[in-house]
Parts: sequence; C-alpha cells; structure tokens
Amino acid sequence: MTAERVNIAIIGGGLMGREIAAAIQRWPALIEHPVRPRLTAVCDINPAALEWFDEIDTVVTKTTNYQQLLSDDSIDVIYVAVRHDLHEGIYTDVIRSGKGLLAEKPFGIDGDAVQAILAAIAEHPESFVRCSSEMPFFPGAQVAIDYVRSGALGTIVEARNSFLHSSDIDVNKPINWKRQTQFCGKAGVLNDLGMHTWHVPLRLGWVPDSVYGVLQNIVTERPGPDGSTVDCDTWDNAVIHSWARHDGVSFPLTTETKRIDPGQKNTWEFEAIGLDGGVRFSTKNPKLVEIFTVTTVPGGGREQVWQQVDSGSQSVWPTVTGPNFESGFSDTILQMWAVFLAERHGSLGDRFGAVRPEEAALTHLIYNAAITSHSEKRAVEL
Ligand SMILES: NC(=O)c1ccc[n+]([C@@H]2O[C@H](COP(=O)([O-])OP(=O)(O)OC[C@H]3O[C@@H](n4cnc5c(N)ncnc54)[C@H](O)[C@@H]3O)[C@@H](O)[C@H]2O)c1
Repeated sequence: MTAERVNIAIIGGGLMGREIAAAIQRWPALIEHPVRPRLTAVCDINPAALEWFDEIDTVVTKTTNYQQLLSDDSIDVIYVAVRHDLHEGIYTDVIRSGKGLLAEKPFGIDGDAVQAILAAIAEHPESFVRCSSEMPFFPGAQVAIDYVRSGALGTIVEARNSFLHSSDIDVNKPINWKRQTQFCGKAGVLNDLGMHTWHVPLRLGWVPDSVYGVLQNIVTERPGPDGSTVDCDTWDNAVIHSWARHDGVSFPLTTETKRIDPGQKNTWEFEAIGLDGGVRFSTKNPKLVEIFTVTTVPGGGREQVWQQVDSGSQSVWPTVTGPNFESGFSDTILQMWAVFLAERHGSLGDRFGAVRPEEAALTHLIYNAAITSHSEKRAVEL
C-alpha cells in the first residue's frame, strides 16, 4: 500500500503545537496507516516560539502571519492551537481556504462562535474538520467504551466522566489567558476541560435531556504580569449533573471539570454502572480497567466482584509497540491524529473517531445551559 502524503501546518506553536509536532514524528509507529503526514510549516506571532521547530527538519516554512499558510498550495491540513477568543476567526479562515482542520477545543469561545464555524463548514464541505480530544484514546478508555457498547451494563444505573487538575491550588500562580473570561470565554473551566468529558458521552449517544450546573470561582484574583493583583474571573470547577438516556432508560450522567481538585494532575476518569455490569477507567492508574460482575467464587457463593484487567498498549489504530507495554499522553495524541487523518482519507470505518463539529456545538449548548442552571438554581432542559 502506498500511503497518501499529507502536508501539515501548525498555527500556534505553544504547549499543544509542540506536542502535536512531536507526535507526528512518531508516525512510523502506526501499522499500515493510509496516510503519511509531514509537518512542513508553522506559524506563531511570537518569533521565539518558532525557534523550537528548528528541531524538525521537514519544516520549511516558519511565519508570524497565518495568512501565508492559507495561500500555500502545498499545505493540506492545518492544526490550530491558539487562545479561545481567536478560534472563530482563524478556524473560519482555514475552512474557507479549503484545507483540512484539526481545531483545538472548545471549538470557538461560545455558542455564537461555534455557529459561525459550522456555517463556514457548511459552505466548504471540502474542508474536513474535527476537534481535538485525545484522552479517550488511552487503551483503557477504549476498553471501557467497547464494554458499554457491548450491552454488558444491562439496565444502566449511572455514569460519570471527569477531568481533574490542581495546579491552580497555588494562589500565587500568575494569571494567564486561560483564567480570564475575555480570552477563555464565560464558560471558564468548561471551555478548557469540558470537551474531554463530553466526547465519550456524546459519542455513546448520551445527549443530556436536562442539566444542573454547579460552578465555582474559587480563586478570584491572581498576580498579573507586573506583580500587581488582577481579576481571575473564570469558573475554576464545574460539575454538571444531567439526565441522559441509554437504551431508552433515563439515568444520571455527571461530568466534572476541575482546576482545583487537590492531588490531581491531568486525571481523566470514566465510569458506567449497570445492573448487569460496570466499568471504570482512570488515567491515574493508566493500565488498569475495572470490570464489575456477579460471579461464583470457588469455595464460596455468588458475590459482586470488581475485576482488574491490564489494558496494554493497543488503542484504536494498531502500532508496532509491544501489546503488553504501557501507553501515555503522547500515545493518545498520536492515536487522535491517526483517526483524524484516516477519517479524512475515508478509511476509519466504524472505529472511534475524533470529535465532530456538531458534537463540539452540543458542548456549548450544554455549557450555556449549565451556566443558566447555576445562576437560576434550577435544572435546565436542553
Ligand atoms: N487537547 C488538549 O489536551 C489541550 C491541552 C492544552 C490546551 N489545549 C487547547 O489548545 C489551545 C491552545 O492552548 P495552549 O495551551 O497550546 O496555549 P499556549 O498559550 O501555550 O499557546 C498558544 C500559542 O498561540 C500563539 N498565538 C497567539 N495568537 C496567534 C496568532 N494570531 N497566530 C499564530 N499564533 C498565535 C501564541 O504566541 C502561543 O505560542 C486552546 O484552545 C486550548 O484550550 C488543548
């Protein structure tokens, strides 16, 4: 098989831009992928951020103006990782150029922005667009998703998906754009972390009927660039209690996004419980998947048992990595790119894919309802 050559550009060479550049260098780890990407161009308004990309010898274009990338016919796909207030303008420009787009979450700063992005996609169906969300590509998360899809839960009882951090517990941590509504958006931590907690539920068909939002702004001021105190006006923690349906049965679905959850660094957790079975996975212990069953214990009677399974290295797209080896964050980024480029190529089939634009739009609907619910102290229908 001859793989299709796809030239990639990055707009925004910060934390995520560098992560994606590094992941693409590991492409040969994927087995029989139909696409061979090559990072050829990068744009950042900060020239110092561009220097890091000298490490990557396929990069032939470095620019501080992203328009230069849009008019470059050699570029096929652009990954954009910039501040949320810049999403709408840059995403719609990329879509109108006809190039493919892997866009960072929250896919627009608010509901209006996401609608403008959807309108651009409708006008330019030739631009294949997906949104970033990598945590479900941990092998253990895939085991949990397949478990739910198998029907093993029986009648569902409840489900939860969480994304938990705690670097913001340090009140002396300087302010940054992610902590300011004007740049991050009024959904605050939901804009930052919410996509991580809705990708799997929405893909399982768990669109909530109603939501109840519990939002907290715990640290309201932080040191600014000159050391003086500035407003830190975004929600730090947000829990959304919702009602969704699984096989026609209504159940409580909880999503948690927290910047202040003591002890947590980047913990993604999924749990689904039913009368016949249950499944749990947390990146805290990234090999472990727990499966609930009722079984006969030798020498004993019927017992309720949580069993433990080590998930190994294989996720959605097969890799050369030994099946018993461990998987980590950078592996999930590689998997997300594998499914994104395979789907763009038409070769993903029914495998688990990256977030679709309409799913990203739903997350903004959910965040808006959660904000209304919080301020009016009532459940809000979607
Ligand atoms: N998927 C994930 O796990 C994950 C993790 C962190 C952040 N993110 C998302 O990625 C995006 C960026 O976050 P980050 O942490 O990489 O931010 P960052 O601040 O580290 O990097 C953003 C970069 O964009 C550059 N930039 C700003 N304006 C620009 C413009 N007009 N043209 C080109 N470059 C420009 C900045 O100079 C900076 O280098 C956000 O949407 C964020 O929510 C995703």
